Amino acid sequence: MDDDFNIALRQTAELMDRELRALLPQTEALEKPLFEAMRYAVLSPGKRMRAFLAIQSADLFAVPRLHSVRVAAALEMVHSYSLIHDDLPCMDDDDLRRGLPTVHRKFDEATAVLAGDALQSLAFETIGDMKTHPSAEIRLQLVNRLARAIGAQGMVGGQMMDIHAETTPIDIATITRLQRLKTGALISFACEAGGILGHASPPLAQALKAYSHDLGLAFQIADDILDKEGSPEEMGKATGKDAEAGKATFVSLMGLEEARAHAAILVDQAIDHLEPFGPKADLLRHAARFSIHRRN
Ligand code: IPE
Ligand code: IPE
Ligand code: MG
Ligand code: MG
Ligand code: MG
Repeated sequence: MDDDFNIALRQTAELMDRELRALLPQTEALEKPLFEAMRYAVLSPGKRMRAFLAIQSADLFAVPRLHSVRVAAALEMVHSYSLIHDDLPCMDDDDLRRGLPTVHRKFDEATAVLAGDALQSLAFETIGDMKTHPSAEIRLQLVNRLARAIGAQGMVGGQMMDIHAETTPIDIATITRLQRLKTGALISFACEAGGILGHASPPLAQALKAYSHDLGLAFQIADDILDKEGSPEEMGKATGKDAEAGKATFVSLMGLEEARAHAAILVDQAIDHLEPFGPKADLLRHAARFSIHRRN
């Protein structure tokens, strides 16, 4: 079964590579570096977890892959944009991402800012296109939910709190809210999108939401644990950065062992929420376990 998950995740990565290559424009005009930076970022070897969650959630409702793959690609564009900006000198100031120089290192800061901006726009353009779903109502719902997930009341709001967490002492309740926003909101949208595409009934949409809520937080706690005990070689990014920046995380507030235990409880809860789907949701169960057992 572990093999099934690893195979499915690898297939998602291959699928994303093809889809993203097709969706990303190229040009020989003056703005060529922008297009190159967008491709450089989004085609670099990420785990494609958000894409995986969107496709697997949609599969629960037998949504044609034609549709879910486009939403998955849009999610990876948004995620790449968030990483490009997260790595900038004014944010986390990182030189390495997915084992490669960060976009502002490879190109320059202005190009990195613009590539992030343009990837975000392209994500919305992709979701809003007729090819994503024939129903305008479904497309509008996707656009609306994604906008909310990544804006001031979601990911970007979380990033703002994250910056403050470097200089302001915060408690567990606040770090929980911060991480649900900065990382959890986009992960939740990935699962929600599957339900929207599949016309999920309210109880099933709620089950997926509860799953993604716990998974999103566990995923970021694992990221903080890996920042503390992972290696840059395995991670493809610098480690020890949170402590160096004096950033409050679950690890700094609880210690490694308690943070690990907390993440494990969240994963168990996430898996419990999938009960109504039966064995159909096994890959999502594995994704939850993977989120805390991963090495990068
Ligand atoms: C890194 O996300 C940033 C976080 C929100 C924790 P991932 O760990 O999914 O990064 P990639 O996409 O695999 O590079
Ligand atoms: C990044 O969190 C969250 C977003 C990009 C929204 P981190 O700053 O912890 O991610 P890494 O560790 O740089 O991948
Ligand atoms: Mg950050
Ligand atoms: Mg960072
Ligand atoms: Mg991190």
